[in-house]
Amino acid sequence: AIPIILDCDPGHDDALAIMLAAADPRLDLLAITTVAGNTTLDKATLNARRVCTIAGISGVPVAAGCDAPLAGELRIADDIHGASGLDGPEFGEPAVPLAGEHAVALTRRLLLDHPEPVTLVPTGPLTNIATLLRDHPEVAPRIREIVLMGGSTGRGNITPYGEFNIFVDPEAADLVLRSGLPVTVVGLNVTHQALVTPEVVTRFRALDTPLAEACVQLMTFFASTYDRVFGLPGPPLHDPIAVARVAEPALVRCVPAPVAIELTGVHTRGATVVDLHHRTGTPDNALVATGLDVAPFWDLVVGAVAALPGA
Ligand code: BDR
Ligand code: CA
Repeated sequence: AIPIILDCDPGHDDALAIMLAAADPRLDLLAITTVAGNTTLDKATLNARRVCTIAGISGVPVAAGCDAPLAGELRIADDIHGASGLDGPEFGEPAVPLAGEHAVALTRRLLLDHPEPVTLVPTGPLTNIATLLRDHPEVAPRIREIVLMGGSTGRGNITPYGEFNIFVDPEAADLVLRSGLPVTVVGLNVTHQALVTPEVVTRFRALDTPLAEACVQLMTFFASTYDRVFGLPGPPLHDPIAVARVAEPALVRCVPAPVAIELTGVHTRGATVVDLHHRTGTPDNALVATGLDVAPFWDLVVGAVAALPGA
């Protein structure tokens, strides 16, 4: 199986990314690390432990990372994910412990110790990953690739041209995109193809397990905020698509392109400037997702929820 570390900020779609990463037999989930983003670091970390608890994911360390972006103030997304960062279900006390190590230290150690290069899958702001690459450059050869959810080939969601994960920490995203490592960018242009419609919710409900019922409650809350803020018929299940790209690459079509992060724009700070048609002559630095096989993606996600043991 492909060794991966999931770096996340749960978050409704991050919760499903955790479940897919833990359940897919093609992946070996070495750790779940958390970062401030959708909510504060403390809440995101609690939420990761809650998700592991209800899903029956044990033996995977959960470590807390950076609590603020490299520069500036943290912007959270409580309008989308609620006050807890994971509103919807009632959670009990998490049974899954918090690792003693900082996420960046844990990631460094796992990268250096693992016999094979490891894939990093960031589904929140890139603060932990940028801090790792900046402070521990010796890990670079131990990273197989970075497959991140963030950005867009088109418009944004937190500002007209800024996607949330990139907008929250543009300096971190800039460092990652200029690292020279193999980076795949799964952005809104693709994640908005995977809307959790009522039909998808019905598939979760039909599983008829406590975990599936929690997923129904998560997706119902997520749908209500996406309907209110964006008027969409369902919320895009952004983050699991990055996980799916690692588990089953053919599901997510990608093209090489130069991707720059706008750091200084008057109205566009945090925009991903993707030169899809190579008009600037800038060398490619990323694979950019352009298409998703939607039906098999839902089979993967629903199958993951079905396969997990639950609490
Ligand atoms: C991204 O922002 C967060 O709200 C989601 O969890 C996802 O990672 C989408 O822009
Ligand atoms: Ca996320």
